[in-house]
Amino acid sequence: VADQGRFASLTFELLQAGDLDELAGLEKECFSLPWSRALFAEELKHPELSHWLLVRDEALPGRPLAGYMGFWKAGDEAHVVNLAVQPGRRGQGLGFELATRILDQARAMGCRRATLEVRATNLPAQRLYEKLGFQTIAVRRRYYSDNQEDALILWNNAL
Ligand SMILES: CC(C)(COP(=O)(O)OP(=O)(O)OC[C@H]1O[C@@H](n2cnc3c(N)ncnc32)[C@H](O)[C@@H]1OP(=O)(O)O)[C@@H](O)C(=O)NCCC(=O)NCCS
Repeated sequence: VADQGRFASLTFELLQAGDLDELAGLEKECFSLPWSRALFAEELKHPELSHWLLVRDEALPGRPLAGYMGFWKAGDEAHVVNLAVQPGRRGQGLGFELATRILDQARAMGCRRATLEVRATNLPAQRLYEKLGFQTIAVRRRYYSDNQEDALILWNNAL
């Protein structure tokens, strides 16, 4: 009940073409190697593979985008490709809520395992994924081209 209150003005919806400009804008705000608008547009061409959940704030003019998460379905695996929450809305449980909802969707589609990559220094994201049952199983050295940072490979084998 408390969570319903906390998220009362928020709506969760699937990615549509009309979201692309705003999505690419928030992506740029959140990542040092952002996906382009064109890359997000490609996602819409593969609806059987690519699944995105957006959260918008109905209480504000223009229903601004507050966060989003996407995964690719590969057999019974969900490959998480992106998760971001607008900087001003972080630390309020929104990332956890988004991730919980989209992993529930993945499970309903038959996914039994989930995997993702996260920067070695990205502790907030790592804590969030731990809370969701992910464990670090490998390291990809110097994976990120902007600062040669390692990537941690996480799996949740019991989605
Ligand atoms: C990672 C991110 C999505 C988290 O979103 P959020 O809405 O702030 O996360 P939540 O408020 O739901 O927090 C969930 C859990 O994450 C962890 N967490 C979140 N922010 C944290 C922080 N600043 N420091 C440490 N742990 C943190 C905590 O375990 C938290 O659970 P708790 O509140 O019970 O302690 C957000 O910080 C973000 O958009 N970062 C930039 C983009 C990014 O790095 N995405 C992940 C790419 S792999």
